[in-house]
Amino acid sequence: MLTTFAKRTILATAISGLLSTGALAGSVEVLHYWTSGGEAKSAAVLKDLLEKEGHEWKDFAVAGGGGESAMTVLKSRAVSGNPPSAAQIKGPDIQEWADLGFLTELDQVAGNNNWDQQLPQVVANVMKYDGHYVAVPVNVHRVNWIWANPEVLKQAGVDEVPSSWEELIAVAPKIKAAGFIPLAHGGQAWQDATLFEAVVLGVGGADFYQKAMVETDADALSGDTMVKVLDTFKRLRPLIDDDAAGREWNIATAMVINGKAAMQVMGDWAKGEFTAAGKIPGKDYVCAPAPGTQNTFTFNVDSFAMFEVSDAGDKQAQADLARLILEPTFQEAFNLNKGSIPVRTDLPMDKFDSCAKMSMNDFISTSKQGGLVPSMAHGMAVPSAVQGAIYDTVTNFFNSDDMTPEQAAEKLAKAVRAAI
Ligand code: GAL
Repeated sequence: MLTTFAKRTILATAISGLLSTGALAGSVEVLHYWTSGGEAKSAAVLKDLLEKEGHEWKDFAVAGGGGESAMTVLKSRAVSGNPPSAAQIKGPDIQEWADLGFLTELDQVAGNNNWDQQLPQVVANVMKYDGHYVAVPVNVHRVNWIWANPEVLKQAGVDEVPSSWEELIAVAPKIKAAGFIPLAHGGQAWQDATLFEAVVLGVGGADFYQKAMVETDADALSGDTMVKVLDTFKRLRPLIDDDAAGREWNIATAMVINGKAAMQVMGDWAKGEFTAAGKIPGKDYVCAPAPGTQNTFTFNVDSFAMFEVSDAGDKQAQADLARLILEPTFQEAFNLNKGSIPVRTDLPMDKFDSCAKMSMNDFISTSKQGGLVPSMAHGMAVPSAVQGAIYDTVTNFFNSDDMTPEQAAEKLAKAVRAAI
């Protein structure tokens, strides 16, 4: 129990803190889907920083990797006229929400803090609607990675992490014979799509990826290269165990961490799980670009958008949240836990591991030389309706017993056309 004196002292300190900064206190209800071990640690960084400013963080976490469930909940809250004040929204979805008139402009905080100078152009463009900032980016995730357990590979007699899909398929029997699962995977549409887009990039190359997954060109979606991509993709299915249906991505990562499976193809939020488990890259696990995707970079930028609120304190809390996100303290602490790299390229990387340094180098070099592409599977490339159409076709094909790659390519082009 606190004495009356102690209570008064705490109150007085809090009030003087507020008065000295001249700040209004408010609260922000934050919708996000960061619920795995590494993700929860990352979200806690932002919560702590916001609370240090005197504001309240109302946590609104909706479990489910890739955020599909979170987006469903967000839509129903918005439709009923009661959206949260901040939500993790990204890519073209930001434009859709802004277009519907839901989002608050962040130009003032952006101007005061030089966001235009701090952010890569490719990122800033996604955060703006009609020339105004309506979202703030937290990180850059690279999606085209493969994570491997070197001890498992060694026991299976596999010398190196496969650098092409054919190589991966060729070493799988050895891994199985040694008693391990070649590929850790969760049978969920977004995870199938994550694997699929890595094969699109690895087999087709960055230009083909751009045509098929970003421009949704009908010929690219139904042509010979896509047939080859789908054929390769389907040949990965037997590398996955029988219990994969419905498995969350972090459970699949745990299979690599614990030595049940050899590898996982997943964005670098998987690294957040290795980090949370105290594992060291280069020793306990190995990161490499997904097979065949060296010199390319599939980017996925997490960001928060703010919904209109009326209370002055709550407005201040939103502005402070937006400001904190791009400050060096948050960028470093958050991204060290999350597995991603800072979205600002002007910050020191000395505390980051070798995978993150490789990611930063490749992000910068591909942005200059080509090979930097937005992730379809993670909502950066196409509107959500088109993404949904690709998800459905890809996951049906991956799990079907009789659909041919030719039929799947046809279906893909048709489904996308219908969704546009
Ligand atoms: C991605 C998101 C990441 C991570 C992952 C798993 O789409 O950008 O931050 O949360 O899904 O949920």
